[in-house]
Amino acid sequence: MLATDLDGTLVGDKSSLQALLDFYGSQTYKVSLVYITGRHYQSALSLIEEESLPVPDVLITDVGTGIYIGDRLEPDLEWTRRLEKSWMPEKIESIASRVSGLTSQDLPITNRCSYFASDSTVVEAFRSELNKSGIPYKLIYSGGRDVDILPSESGKGQALQYILDKYKLSEAKLLVAGDSGNDVEMLTMGFPSVIVGNAQPELLEQAEHPSIYRAKQKFAGGIHEAWSHFHTD
Ligand code: GLC
Ligand code: MG
Repeated sequence: MLATDLDGTLVGDKSSLQALLDFYGSQTYKVSLVYITGRHYQSALSLIEEESLPVPDVLITDVGTGIYIGDRLEPDLEWTRRLEKSWMPEKIESIASRVSGLTSQDLPITNRCSYFASDSTVVEAFRSELNKSGIPYKLIYSGGRDVDILPSESGKGQALQYILDKYKLSEAKLLVAGDSGNDVEMLTMGFPSVIVGNAQPELLEQAEHPSIYRAKQKFAGGIHEAWSHFHTD
């Protein structure tokens, strides 16, 4: 199973993507695909269409707050209900409006609250206000710009773990792939993981770990390189 981020990881270089898909197609085993993206559902579907990506078995959107499954990629309502319990987007929006240097991303969804931050001091000011409020949340900072506030039980890593548990896949031959801050949670779960060669600076700071492979190749080429590193048999 390949559990991969889209922008900057699977997507970014068409010829290495095609080479990876051809390689998977020529194996004796089937590679299931789980896409784990920061994009919202419609935006992820548009990217899948524009880039002619294979339709995944599972689509995880919104930095791990939306999960879509099956041939028709229908929402997993058990996951949605689980996250709704302690989610307070209005309170988060109201705190955000008082932090200068934060701009709302203006998204068509309420399962996460996302902003652009002018710099990292703004992010720390926001974090401290959220802490003072006592609201449960998870803050993810990526690419030196995007700030996502998520329900605390969500995130790319927790959403992936939910899928592995739900379908009893803990024994699967897995590779996790990413390029930026919102991928850290899933890259550090202890599964074979790859940081692709073109990763954002925030991933260069990530501690060395035997389960994390730093590819020389960029985008899908890095996934291919890591697959050969971890799964040679
Ligand atoms: C994607 C999403 C954006 C999010 C970012 C980081 O770019 O479109 O909303 O903030 O990923 O997770
Ligand atoms: Mg990315």
